Amino acid sequence: MDSDEVVVRRRVDGALELRVNGVFVMDDVETTSERRLAQVVLERGARDVLVGGLGLGFTVRALLEDANVRMVLVAELHPDVIAACTVDDSRLEVVIGDIRDLVAEQPPTFDAVLLDVDNGPDHLVHVANAAVYGDAFVAECARVLRPGGTLAVWSMADSPTLRSTLAAHFDDVEAESVPVRLQGRDEAYWILSARR
Ligand SMILES: C[S@@+](CC[C@H](N)C(=O)[O-])C[C@H]1O[C@@H](n2cnc3c(N)ncnc32)[C@H](O)[C@@H]1O
Repeated sequence: MDSDEVVVRRRVDGALELRVNGVFVMDDVETTSERRLAQVVLERGARDVLVGGLGLGFTVRALLEDANVRMVLVAELHPDVIAACTVDDSRLEVVIGDIRDLVAEQPPTFDAVLLDVDNGPDHLVHVANAAVYGDAFVAECARVLRPGGTLAVWSMADSPTLRSTLAAHFDDVEAESVPVRLQGRDEAYWILSARR
């Protein structure tokens, strides 16, 4: 993943687009689900939030729009993605690296962990990200959360496997379907969440 070619570019239709190794990751046309990922934990009063994957910054912006949020700590694998980000807020810290390494260094002081690093456990762009949805890392996310804290995971599809992994370490597992409009079609992305 270190040798990935990352491009953040303005398309001819005016949209901002993120591509990795020539593969489309996201654009700024339909960002309902990225913002919803933040809202799921804001509705539960999250103040200190750990995020995996900066992307174009829609999840992070939605978190920082809430004045009650105290700190947003983000791991982003690609420096070029960070360089393209225009979010400027003293509560935000972005670290270059893998979310798994950042979580491993953290004390148990977070209200929420948000993961949006790939297309979900069954549609991986990076094979190495399989570990992000695995039992050991989900347990690590539970460790860094305060009691009552939430782990929320963006996915392009529901995943019974991820739901049962979450249920092994958390209570109140939920899978929320988020309606999105993609290239003229009505579709849905998913947010799987669970409470410690
Ligand atoms: C779909 S984008 C995130 C979108 C973001 N939620 C938003 O609102 O724009 C996924 C991001 O995760 C990053 N990424 C991929 N694997 C990662 C990992 N293991 N740790 C940290 N960042 C990762 C990618 O470089 C990319 O910027």
